[in-house]
Amino acid sequence: MMNPMGPQMKKNMMRTLAEQADRHVLYEQAVQCVEAEIDMVDATFEQIRGYPAQTLREDFCGTAQTSMEWIQRRQNNLAVAVDLDREVLGWSSEHHLAQLTEAEAARIELLQADVRELRIDPVQIVLAMNFSYQLFDTREELRAYFASVRAGLAEDGVFFLDAFGGYDCYRDIEETTACDGFDYIWEQSSYNPIDGGMQCYIHFAFPDGSRLDRAFSYYWRMWTLPELQELLDEAGFRNVTVYWEGTDEETGEGNGIYTPSRVGDADPAWVCYLSAEK
Ligand SMILES: C[S@@+](CC[C@H](N)C(=O)[O-])C[C@H]1O[C@@H](n2cnc3c(N)ncnc32)[C@H](O)[C@@H]1O
Repeated sequence: MMNPMGPQMKKNMMRTLAEQADRHVLYEQAVQCVEAEIDMVDATFEQIRGYPAQTLREDFCGTAQTSMEWIQRRQNNLAVAVDLDREVLGWSSEHHLAQLTEAEAARIELLQADVRELRIDPVQIVLAMNFSYQLFDTREELRAYFASVRAGLAEDGVFFLDAFGGYDCYRDIEETTACDGFDYIWEQSSYNPIDGGMQCYIHFAFPDGSRLDRAFSYYWRMWTLPELQELLDEAGFRNVTVYWEGTDEETGEGNGIYTPSRVGDADPAWVCYLSAEK
């Protein structure tokens, strides 16, 4: 009698869900919401300049999901996605670029490089999202990175970054979020109040009890918003603006709408955006 189970199926039945998982797929599902991010960036650039942007550079791009979203927004949009890590760029090429038409693929470039050492044509938007710039842990290093971003912008260019904070970020905590088929666990494992250094991990847990521990690990300096605004000013940017999230009156939770603000709330945990104009 024929075995109805193929060899791959049989093999998978013997492996845990963690062993079968792809950490980049899980990261994209759990961490990123590129549609909302590009909505905000696209609309804000147009508000500032009066016309939509065409060219975007995504620093610390990881799987370059944000650049993929950008080039699919308008037929003339162009993106350059930059990351140091060959492995993650290879993943993006195999999983994202391979899905594009030839014409779409011609409008996105994956670049393996240090974001501080780029020699590419100026762009209208540079993105540094998911707090990745926090790996620069001295004022000199972060200011130099910001200055290099400014130098890489076209005359009408705008730099966008996000930031997080609130009193919970100084605590050693684990926060679990249920996703489709797995749990996403954000761990702030240690915070050093003397130098602001913070060790964070992303873990994934599965219904069969298996786990992908420390699937991603970040050692960051926990920069504050005043420091970020000062360093952007010092790097030569103009009109540095913080966009603070509004509150849903019914739930008391964030409503996903970010507006230019000078006063925020002392929330336990918040995420906001900044823009800085060339
Ligand atoms: C937290 S991931 C960010 C992923 C993505 N930007 C997002 O929004 O979720 C940080 C990425 O930055 C990359 N990276 C770290 N230092 C870098 C540098 N100096 N230049 C370019 N990429 C760098 C790492 O390889 C990693 O893929």
